[in-house]
Amino acid sequence: MTNAVLLGVQWGDEGKGKIVDLLTERADAVVRFQGGHNAGHTLVINGVKTVLHLIPSGAMRNGIECLIGNGVVTDLLHLLTEISGLEERDVEIRNRLMISLGCPLILPYHVVLDRVRDEARGKSAIGTTGRGIGPCYEDKVARRGVRAVDLVDERVFASKLEQVMEYHNFMISNYYRSDPVDYRKTLDAMLEARESILPMIGDVSARLNRLCRTGKSVIFEGAQGMMLDIDHGTYPYVTSSNTVSAAAAAGSGVGPQDIGTVLGVVKAYATRVGSGPFPTELTDRVGEHLAKQGHEFGATTGRPRRCGWLDIVALRRAVQVCGITSLCITKLDVLDGLETVQLCVGYEYQGSRVDLPPYGAEGLEQCIPVYENMQGWNDSTAGLRHFSEIPGQARAYLDRISDLLQLPITIISTGAGRDDTIVLKHPLESS
Ligand code: GDP
Ligand code: IMO
Ligand code: MG
Repeated sequence: MTNAVLLGVQWGDEGKGKIVDLLTERADAVVRFQGGHNAGHTLVINGVKTVLHLIPSGAMRNGIECLIGNGVVTDLLHLLTEISGLEERDVEIRNRLMISLGCPLILPYHVVLDRVRDEARGKSAIGTTGRGIGPCYEDKVARRGVRAVDLVDERVFASKLEQVMEYHNFMISNYYRSDPVDYRKTLDAMLEARESILPMIGDVSARLNRLCRTGKSVIFEGAQGMMLDIDHGTYPYVTSSNTVSAAAAAGSGVGPQDIGTVLGVVKAYATRVGSGPFPTELTDRVGEHLAKQGHEFGATTGRPRRCGWLDIVALRRAVQVCGITSLCITKLDVLDGLETVQLCVGYEYQGSRVDLPPYGAEGLEQCIPVYENMQGWNDSTAGLRHFSEIPGQARAYLDRISDLLQLPITIISTGAGRDDTIVLKHPLESS
């Protein structure tokens, strides 16, 4: 058995979906373990684009089991739409999709709360995806959430929903001065969804343990990125879950020994959607160039992504917290044609040079990047499939990243397509 966790180690949108899809050629199952449909994972196969939000990125390969672990906040109405979207394209998914009994359910009042809360923050709004992710995790931790298991008995579901909605509608009407959410309508919509959903609900933890004990290979698919982690990211400008590798075990129901190797997916530069500190952000023409070349628009909300140079300081934290064992560098082609590429190798922070980012947004906002300049390359790397074809300067850039982080680069992505990839070592290959 070989398993692997694949994580984004910046602010999301590193190209995780593309890489998970590619790696499933050797896997038996893919499991999501945190986040929800705030994620937008793009797969391009034979020129056809698919964006997955909640369904694991194993969906496009027949026979791959797709599991949604207990750590994922699940909007069942959205899930059914995503399933129908795949079915319209003749991708059969229902008989290989399992949703954990432990998944907290995102309900319409979470979406309202997400909106009114972020609006109430005014200038310091997080800029969430507005999908109810944070409020659903709050309910989970407050022990008042409704979970997939509650759907098994209609009466249990109706009663739990009524209680929690009474509480939230009070807050929505009286504190946020917004319109309450109709209980009856919510219940009816959920009970209608229940019929289609129940056959897909199951014990994901038991299934995974069985797969692991019978020599099957599992990919744990991270969503968001390490710098959006609720504890280790740029708090409070983060998502509401742990995005680090250790979350793969807790969020799916396996022991830490089963999560396998940890592949960190790094975009060759940096992007961020929403608010929050971003030390290497470029607001000049180079930033515009990266956004244009990289088509940097959010796959979930369509918002323009902020762009900047690669931040080794932030990556150092990610390497430490996630125990990353190898790196995958994506979107190398987007840097083609630049005269100079810059790497942030340290920060000036409160009069000293630091090698790791301070915790929290306030500290990070004070950090000034220290750059190393490297010569760019003119030859195109777009679509390259052999390492030997990579131009010397691009190779020097990759080598420098590998040196600074003391990790091997085992995968290089040179285009959005599944095959525009150089795999030097497959993470599911035993060493
Ligand atoms: P994810 O959330 O990490 O799965 O990433 P997204 O799908 O949100 O964003 C990555 C975007 O970059 C998508 O539009 C991908 O199709 C695209 N992409 C992925 N890898 C590459 C690459 O190597 N080169 C280029 N040019 N585009 C890529
Ligand atoms: P993938 O999996 C990029 C960002 C939002 C916002 C913050 C909190 O595609 O990489 P939330 O709705 O989670 O409460 O929003 O997190 N965010 C992402 N940014 N990629 C994502 O997912 C993201 N998911 C959430 O923009 O700043
Ligand atoms: Mg994305």
